[in-house]
Formats: sequence, structure tokens, C-alpha cells
Amino acid sequence: MKVLVLGSGGREHALVWKIAQSDKVGKIYAAPGNAGIAELAERVDIDVNDKKKLLEFAIAKGVDLTVVGPEAPLVSGIVDLFADNGRRIFGFDGRGALLEGSKVWAKEFMRKYRIPTGGFAAFNDHCAAQRSIEEGTPPFVIKADGLAAGKGVFVCETREQARNAAERMMKAGEFGEAGKRVVIEEYLEGPELSILAVFDGKDYRLFAASQDHKRAFDGDTGPNTGGMGAYSPVPWLDHALSEKIRIEIIEPTLNGIQAEKISGAGVIYFGLMITGEGPKVLEYNCRFGDPETQVILPLFKGDLFEVLYEATGSNLESVDFENSADSCACVVIASGGYPGPYRKGHRISGLEEADDTGCILFHAGTAIRDGEFVNDGGRVLCVTAVARNLNDALEKAYRGAGMISFQDCFYRRDIGRRALES
Ligand code: AMP
Ligand code: GLY
Repeated sequence: MKVLVLGSGGREHALVWKIAQSDKVGKIYAAPGNAGIAELAERVDIDVNDKKKLLEFAIAKGVDLTVVGPEAPLVSGIVDLFADNGRRIFGFDGRGALLEGSKVWAKEFMRKYRIPTGGFAAFNDHCAAQRSIEEGTPPFVIKADGLAAGKGVFVCETREQARNAAERMMKAGEFGEAGKRVVIEEYLEGPELSILAVFDGKDYRLFAASQDHKRAFDGDTGPNTGGMGAYSPVPWLDHALSEKIRIEIIEPTLNGIQAEKISGAGVIYFGLMITGEGPKVLEYNCRFGDPETQVILPLFKGDLFEVLYEATGSNLESVDFENSADSCACVVIASGGYPGPYRKGHRISGLEEADDTGCILFHAGTAIRDGEFVNDGGRVLCVTAVARNLNDALEKAYRGAGMISFQDCFYRRDIGRRALES
């Protein structure tokens, strides 16, 4: 079988790595892929948002399954286009992708299907949003309605910060169309958890739960990033809490997706906060998480190609789906300055040594110049390790990360630490 994977991050490297292990797969294309993916797949120079060209490519090459990594092509309706042309594609249709593509839509969906989430109000009008801030009590959570690459959420300790955030989004237009409408949301507290479900329109299966680390620096300080590391499974998630999440959140969401007649098969990513009042949804994503995918796929014992392929035929029930009892940890090595501006093109050393430690090196922002790997993005490498328990997985991942270096690189030293202490 021939598979086309869309995207170029660590998530897509993990997807390609796992799909390549299927004995049913003979050829993988990656559009556009990255320098690490190039070792397993043929790179194709088509933009992930150029859905017409991607369709033409899939038809010309006889691609049997297209797997969409990032959210933007889903929100712009790539699944609708492929489905209309009779091509198999893993992902939800454009309406389904609104669960991620519009915070207002997602919140209204949660209200309609009685899914626990923080209270909220949506605003189209800047003056009305400012009035609500004057009348409310801090902290405030202000979110751009549309896609903002993880940067459209402001947790504001003071009224002044909240005013500023609303102004930047709604008046200064810093987020373009995405920020013209905002959600002001109740502030929630508690540990966060990511749960990823594959849904085929009828049945679902869950990968092991994981936890991301969104802030740039140790101790959850610094700006929000795409994710600086993750681990899986989550030791404090017991059976009772898992059941509560399943009954109150996962199943009502999937029932809602069916009731809304959303089509396609895809991943629903539940971004949860475990509050004193129980688990609540912070956000939905309509795709695999990054870096969560890098820790859940090494623990997945089945054939990922088969899972994704059968899901697109509403036949998930026919496949084996088992997660190992081991633990997996991933440390993201980033370019100095990320998530702000950073310099590219520094030579990366120590990759072979890190590989020798038994770590899996998922590439995110790397490129090859003059035969050598250089940094080419904000998040550069995801050093991933599997072991029998979380402590050992973290130790191994940090041993691997310690071997790698390039000018100004940095990584968090406390991935998984809280989980070990709990
Ligand atoms: P989101 O992209 O909606 O998941 O938000 C990004 C991050 O902002 C989350 O991972 C949380 O750490 C934080 N956050 C989002 N919503 C809330 C909320 N209602 N209360 C507190 N923190 C939040
Ligand atoms: N890890 C957060 C995300 O994928 O959105």
C-alpha cells in the first residue's frame, strides 16, 4: 500500500516511523516532511494547504491512504475534497475540524451536548468584551476564536493584561481573522491531561493518556510553546477517573459528533483539566497532538496503518488496538529564542551518540546542509525513550538529549518531574 503523510514536524516523523513498521505498507510519501522523515519516506514538495495539488498527487501516484498531521488543511476542508473524489483520507471533514478551528463552535457544541467545560461568553464586539472584563473578576482566560498555532490563548492574572489581550486580538488584529471573535472563559485550575481517541464514526479506541509541557521553561514558566516535552501514560490517572472521563466527556463528545453528522474518521484530542469539580474540557483538537504523538505511538502495539486505513472505512472493530504497559518520555530540543525569533542553520552534533543510547530521535525542525544536520525550526528534535517505568524512560531520554548540541539550543530539564513526585 502507498501512504501519503501531510506535515513536517516531530508528530509527522512519529506517524511515518510507526506507519513504516506495517508490513502492508510498501511506500510512504511525506508532503513536505523533514530531514529525519526523509530516511523513511520520499519527500514531496507540496504545501500542506495546497489541497488541489495534494489531491492530484494522490491520484497520480495511486496513494491508498492520506494521513493529515496538522489542523489547517482539515479546517480548510481537505477531507471533503478527497472524499468527493473517492480518495481515502484519515481526518474529519471541515465541519468536524471546527471543533478545533472555532473555539466558539466548540464551546457551543459542549454546551449542547452537556460536556463539562469552563463557563464562557463569546464576543464579536471589542467594546462588549472590554465591558465584560471590567465587570468580571481576574484571572481571565481570553481565547481567539480561530486557529492561532497555539498562540491565541491568554491566561491573564490582572484586568490590565486582559484588556491588553482583547485589544491585541480584536482591535490591533494581531491574529487576523482568527482573533476578530474571542471567547472569555472561566479560569480553571488543576493538572492537565491529553487523551487521544481514534474515531471511525461508529467505534472508538484510546491511545495511552499523556501529558504535554506547554511552557518554554522549567517550572512551567515562560511563554506558551507548541509543547516542550511529554510523557505517557500518566501515573496518577486511575481507573475511577478514566471512567469518569469516558462517561462524562469522551462518549458524549463522540455521540455529539455523530448527531451533528460530521463525516470522516480521525483523531479527537481531548485537552482536559482535572479540576476540583472533576474533569473539564479545555480544548478539542481534531488531529494527533504534538509532542503527544511522539510518546503514544512508541507505546502502541498494533499496526497503525491498519488502524487508520480501517477507521476510514468505519471498520475499527476489525483491528487489534493495544497499548503497552511500558512508559515513554520525550524531551524537545529547541532553538535559542523559541517561541520568539531564533537563528537557523547551526550544525547539530551528537545525533549518532544519542541514537546509540537507544533513544528514538524524532526530527521536527531539521534540514541537511552540506551533508550535515542543522536546526531549521523552533522545535528541532524530540528525543524519545521507552522503558519499563517513567523514571527510567525520563533518564534515558535525558541521557540522549544530553548528547545533542547546537549553538544556543535549550531544553526543559523537568519533563515528567511532577508526575514522578505525585
Ligand atoms: P488551549 O489551547 O485552549 O488548550 O489553551 C492553552 C493552554 O492555556 C492550556 O493548555 C492551559 O494551560 C491554558 N488554559 C486554557 N484554558 C484555560 C482555562 N479555562 N483556565 C486555565 N488555563 C487555561
Ligand atoms: N500538544 C498540544 C497540541 O498538539 O495542540
